Amino acid sequence: MFRALCLWVLFVVANGFKSEEFRNCDKASFCRRNRFRPEGNSTIVLRSGVVNGGVYVGTVEDTVDNGVALELWVIAYEGGIFRVRLKERNPLRVRFEPPDALVSDLDLQRVSIEAVPSQANPDVTYLHTNDGSGAVLIVQHTPVQIDLAVNNAYLMSVNNRGLLNFEHYREKRDGDEEGMWQETFRSFTDSKPYGPASVAFDLTFLGSEHVYGLPEHATGSSLKETRHSVAEGGGAISEPYRLFNLDVFEYLSESPFGLYGSIPLMISHSAERTVAAFWLNAAEMFVDVTKVRGDFSSQTIAQRPRVVTHWISETGILDLFLFVGPRPKDVVRQYTGVTGRTPLPPMFAIAYHQSRWNYRDEEDVYEVDNMFDTHAIPYDVLWLDIEHTDGKRYFTWDKSLFPSPIVMQNRMASKGRHMVTIVDPHIKRDPGFVLHEEATAKGYYVKDSSGRDYDGWCWPGSSSYVDTLHPEFRSWWADKFSLANYVGSTPILHIWNDMNEPSVFNGPEISLPRDALHHGGFEHREVHNAYGMYFHMASYEGLLRRGGYKERAFVLSRAFFAGSQRVGAVWTGDNAAQWDHLAKSIPMVLTLGLSGLAFSGADVGGFFGNPDAELLLRWYQLGAFYPFFRAHAHLDTKRREPWLFGEPWTSDIRDAVRRRYMLLPYYYTLFKETSKTGVPVMRPLWLEYPSDAAVFALDSQFLVGKDLLVRPVLEAGAKQQSVYFPGNDVWYDVLTCEGYLGGRVADIVVSLSSVPVFQRGGSIIPRKDRARRSSTQMEKDPYTLVVALNLVGEAEGTLYVDDGKSFDFDYGAYIRRRFTFANNRLESVNDSPIGRSAMEYATDCLVERVVILGLAKDQYRAVLEMSAQHGRVRRDVDAVYGPPMLLKGAQNRALVLRLPNVPVSSDWSITIGKSSVV
Ligand code: NOJ
Repeated sequence: MFRALCLWVLFVVANGFKSEEFRNCDKASFCRRNRFRPEGNSTIVLRSGVVNGGVYVGTVEDTVDNGVALELWVIAYEGGIFRVRLKERNPLRVRFEPPDALVSDLDLQRVSIEAVPSQANPDVTYLHTNDGSGAVLIVQHTPVQIDLAVNNAYLMSVNNRGLLNFEHYREKRDGDEEGMWQETFRSFTDSKPYGPASVAFDLTFLGSEHVYGLPEHATGSSLKETRHSVAEGGGAISEPYRLFNLDVFEYLSESPFGLYGSIPLMISHSAERTVAAFWLNAAEMFVDVTKVRGDFSSQTIAQRPRVVTHWISETGILDLFLFVGPRPKDVVRQYTGVTGRTPLPPMFAIAYHQSRWNYRDEEDVYEVDNMFDTHAIPYDVLWLDIEHTDGKRYFTWDKSLFPSPIVMQNRMASKGRHMVTIVDPHIKRDPGFVLHEEATAKGYYVKDSSGRDYDGWCWPGSSSYVDTLHPEFRSWWADKFSLANYVGSTPILHIWNDMNEPSVFNGPEISLPRDALHHGGFEHREVHNAYGMYFHMASYEGLLRRGGYKERAFVLSRAFFAGSQRVGAVWTGDNAAQWDHLAKSIPMVLTLGLSGLAFSGADVGGFFGNPDAELLLRWYQLGAFYPFFRAHAHLDTKRREPWLFGEPWTSDIRDAVRRRYMLLPYYYTLFKETSKTGVPVMRPLWLEYPSDAAVFALDSQFLVGKDLLVRPVLEAGAKQQSVYFPGNDVWYDVLTCEGYLGGRVADIVVSLSSVPVFQRGGSIIPRKDRARRSSTQMEKDPYTLVVALNLVGEAEGTLYVDDGKSFDFDYGAYIRRRFTFANNRLESVNDSPIGRSAMEYATDCLVERVVILGLAKDQYRAVLEMSAQHGRVRRDVDAVYGPPMLLKGAQNRALVLRLPNVPVSSDWSITIGKSSVV
């Protein structure tokens, strides 16, 4: 059996992506029925509406089939969010809704709607709130059309092309189209006992040329057109973007095919306005994008550019959130206000992770671990893939390869390191396997269409799939992570959830059949895109429970849905060791970040295939800036740990990894910000420079926070890179200290060791520069502050610090400092709320170095002032020219204040002046 599996894996690897294994729109009858419907034939009409408890409730009729009663709700939430819900009033069958995608306290954010009939047109009702956003929904009744306007500017329109379609549940009839009641794809037949149930609508973004979002696809971040406009004949340009969580082998680096996760969120952005729409629906979905060119300066709506989209889902209800912006960060805040934010990860999880399928045995683990130390390369986490288990039975160990897992983990823990093991949702159907026996007895497996436990093929061979939709299953599953239940685990062990689309090797499109059954009688087709998120949730809950809800947990997932960000990190799955995959990882990770998934990354080195030394190095240099930084590789690839290519590669990889470690205080502060606002760590330039059209489709550069601009090298043999510097200020090369003015492009010479990274003039970035084995060992290390002056000689920045592992910050146990530089004076002040909190966090960490970029070359004197126990201290600090950091390529062009050695948590100031003046 194992041999057969290996052959199968090899076959897939050798043959690459096969488009015919996956359904396109034409092969999915619901998509076929909707995609090319003629425009303007909408049959859905609003008959009446009232405001009830602040919610607008409309009686709607679909005039097909002698009239079908539907209900419309319009709900408003604080801060510019509208929610439009439409579903059958008396359905033959309850439709699935995925409420767990939303934050549990969403109702608390509700604001009341006021409905005002139009004086001029009895067919129109205006829906307002008084939340200050100035947004109005203009509801046309016949047919239903909902426009969103702010201060008389129309921004979005639902059903203005009349493509709203709600296939209600009904009996079978003569003349029903093929595929409505039974559908065949390749050798698979979907029984479709409930018949056609699709929901579709058109949504137009007015005054826009760029839309983003809809992860996960390997595409550029500004979504391409998939259909021509009506004026151009309306034909297809490509497949629509597909949202259907799938395990796609060797995915192409440019394709609208759906990958492992799905978030039906689209963000529209122009220099004037950012808005977004999110369709809460977990079924398979296709989205067409058409761009209609126009003139931004025109006062006539019809002449302005617009992006016309068409959304088609196999089933579910219409539950559409509209976010009014007005700027990109507002939209991200609004969307994550509804679906939640990434909790602050433990510090180790944002450091470097070393993985491969597989580290063979304990000896291999020790060897790799020691080699990192031998080569002075820091790392925090070593991963064990499926081969560590006893025959792919999760929560077990292969006793011959891993006889002493606790000893092994304790050894890791002694160096401050962590481990991660893999736990997938397919369970080996082995009568002697307790997990399987219990799951069977408790009825926790997904059923096939005839009601028997579904039996599919995955890594362990014959497997059943846990029913993640079942709340009792989730609680039972969570308990499996306790130290008592997960024999051989210790508190430093964290978790990786893979194959949770779910992946079924012998299932249709390598997943579960659509007519498989879940808790509550829902069909798999209804819940598919949320399946993986529920699994991720259950595992995360398990680790939190294990730590008594006191320790933060880390769980990586491959599949995701809206809301997954609340429970952990994701990665972009099985990429390949190719330059185009390296480049595509940037828009993929940026799109995830915009869609709430701030903690994400791509496999460094590429999963499939063997990178040469140059590609591997370039991937480390980029990966060191992903929010989630992990190297990983396929079982069949050659070993590629950082020291295996020899010099100069090892040194350059070391420098790349060390850079990430130096920046951990900055990353941690950014993750804290994300946990509060949803604004991602890794950002497209337009998030910070929303009016600069030059950056709207720029995927080769990105920002980390707002202060670091990264332009990774994405081609083999590159000798120079052209870099666009946004904004009006200056950007400093973090190694050479060279300044570049914003609003311009510059050609930057690169060598193998260089990664063009620039710090924004006007910012202060905290670092920890001492080389250690792991982030845990850096806890007490002193800080370096890097002050990059803007054109008027000022800068500011923040630092957030806590214990890096507990939830004590919720009770006030943290430090937040604000640093400012103005009038030649650097000052550190408290930036956390004043007043007593239940807990406090104390640190003895000092600031050991201040690096200043942008001061004219001269002789300087620096004077430190602070209050101490015995009165005020005033002393000189050494000020010399030196390198901004101790890495290859750094030039002696920064003013370095040496050993001020002031506590990072105290108030102090350092005044700098020309020697003769201070
Ligand atoms: C597929 C995952 O995407 C990959 O990262 C992992 O190594 C294999 N499954 C084996 O578990």
